[in-house]
Parts: sequence; C-alpha cells; structure tokens
Amino acid sequence: MIVAAKGTERVWSFDSGGASWGTTARFPCREVAGQTVVLADCLAALEQLEPESVDVAVTSPPYNIGVAYRSYADRLPRAAYLDWMGQVGRGVARALRPDGALFLNVGSTNADPWVAMDVAAALRSTFTLQNHILWAKSLSVGDDTFGHFKPINSQRFLNHNFESVFHFTKTGAVSVDRLAVGVPFKDKSNIARWGHKQDRRCAGNVWFIPYRTVRSKAQKFDHPAGYPVELPLRCLRLHGAKQGAVVLDPFVGSGTTLLAAARLNLCGLGFEVDAEYGHAAVRRLEAERENAKTAAANHRPGTARHRRDSFLAPRLPL
Ligand SMILES: C[S@@+](CC[C@H](N)C(=O)[O-])C[C@H]1O[C@@H](n2cnc3c(N)ncnc32)[C@H](O)[C@@H]1O
Repeated sequence: MIVAAKGTERVWSFDSGGASWGTTARFPCREVAGQTVVLADCLAALEQLEPESVDVAVTSPPYNIGVAYRSYADRLPRAAYLDWMGQVGRGVARALRPDGALFLNVGSTNADPWVAMDVAAALRSTFTLQNHILWAKSLSVGDDTFGHFKPINSQRFLNHNFESVFHFTKTGAVSVDRLAVGVPFKDKSNIARWGHKQDRRCAGNVWFIPYRTVRSKAQKFDHPAGYPVELPLRCLRLHGAKQGAVVLDPFVGSGTTLLAAARLNLCGLGFEVDAEYGHAAVRRLEAERENAKTAAANHRPGTARHRRDSFLAPRLPL
C-alpha cells in the first residue's frame, strides 16, 4: 500500500528502492532523487493514497485525440473518456489537502476544439475552477512569431498554438504565490506609488512557454506528449509549494512533473501505466540527480570553477 504521511520526510512506504524496481504492496515502484515513479493504473493507485495527503497535483492526461502512446489507446468513446476523467478528478480530490490544488493541462485540436473544455466540465462538480491559464506555445506579435508550432495545411483552420491549464481547488479561495511567478515592474514609479514591497508584479494568466528545439528522438525522452519542465515548475511555484511538499502526477509519462519537483526539493509521486515510459522517467530523474551532483561539485570552494566564478562575480554588472 502507498502510505502518504503528512508533513514527514518519508511520504510513502514500499519494500525497496535504489537500483532496481521495488514494489509497493501492489505496484512496482522506484525512487530516484526524492521522487517515486509507480507503475500503476492511476485510478487503482489513487485509491491507495491516504486522504488529504497530497499538497498539489500537476498533470496532463491523455486528450483522447489519438496520440500514439505505446500501450494506452487514446480514442475512447467520448462519454466513456469524460466519465473516466471525472473519476480521476474525484480520486485526486480525495487525495488532496483542503488547501491543495490540481493543475490540469489539457489541449484540444482544430478537429476537436471542445475536448479541453469538456474535460474541465467533467471536473466541475468536484472542484472550483480558480484560474484558467493559457499555455501559449507560440505567440504572434506584430509581423513576427515567437516559439514553435506544428504548421497545418488548411483552408479553414489556423495553426493551433495553445493549450489550457485549469487550476482547480476545492474552495476557489486557495492563496497562491503570484509573485513567485511574477515579473519586475516596467514603470518603477509604480512600486512606491502603490506601496509594493518589492519590484515584482503578477504576470497574468497567459504563459508563453515554448518547446525547446530538439534535434534527436532521444531528446524527446521516448515519449510522444511530454510538456516542457517550465510548465510544472511554474505551477508548483504559483502554488507556493514549500520544501518537502507532496506533489502528485497521476499521468506521469516521461516524468516531467517529478523533474520539476526534484528541482524544487519537493517529494513527487507519479503513476504511469506504461512500463517503458516509467523507465524513461526514472532515467531522466537519474540524469537530473547526476547533473545536480556535478553542479554542486563544480561550485565547491577550492575548485577551479568556484575560483573562476568568485573572480567573475564582482565584475558581473559590467
Ligand atoms: C499526456 S501524457 C503525460 C506526459 C507527461 N506530462 C510528460 O511530460 O511526459 C499521458 C500519460 O498517461 C499515461 N496513462 C494513460 N492511462 C493511464 C492510467 N490509467 N494510469 C496512469 N497513466 C496512464 C500514458 O501512458 C501517458 O504516458
């Protein structure tokens, strides 16, 4: 059984971790960099979580638009799909603390423009929609565009460049840390005029997060539908997740949410039905752990890198 204890270092128990996959009482699992990947159907695994044990969930479910996942068939009859999404929403709600939040990323297509809104509506009786964030992958500004998108050849549709991130809470009144994902004031005189304590203001609900250009399939982490790590990072910062907070991703895929959780020193738990994707998530987390170790070693006092950075630091403003 996955046992999520509140406010402790150890958030769930399982028989073994380390180099090989261990098992919870029911599912194979593996812990890397403080993150746990569980190979499980999310509905079954959600049932095993202790109620109100999760601080924040960030996830992106299958959109039911025919993505070629390895094992999951992404074309259910619409009613069955929305019914399933509703069940997942109830399972997440049960696991979330009263002041928790679910950031649910869903996209649509020109052929199926309603799907994201239908999924949001399927969770309407369970949650309050506190914020609706638009994730812009590409922006049109003047006569230029910024970011990447897949161009379509069509006489009737525009290129489709955005997805939704639905910020669901139980009450609609959960405080968020707007300034953690804020930006500096453009007009600095506003800081004193409006009595702000720091040079930071809310950046709003349209987030421009372009995909990075990938040159090889390996860089796509063997998954057809991953989101950029900046997306869960922003959600977790906006939620104000503090060190050690429990983060859940019921559809963890290649582990992007857990990567973000690792970078913020949070305790992530991700469920995935496909073993290959679960392994890919573990490999990414291992790489992240190694990168963090190398970065820490390079910046240890006495190393060449540290001496160089100490030399450069006072000159950086130039
Ligand atoms: C949109 S992808 C998530 C991608 C992820 N955000 C990332 O960055 O890699 C959805 C994932 O849900 C998985 N999945 C489908 N049905 C599932 C279920 N019942 N329980 C757990 N995972 C499931 C799919 O295999 C797929 O990897």
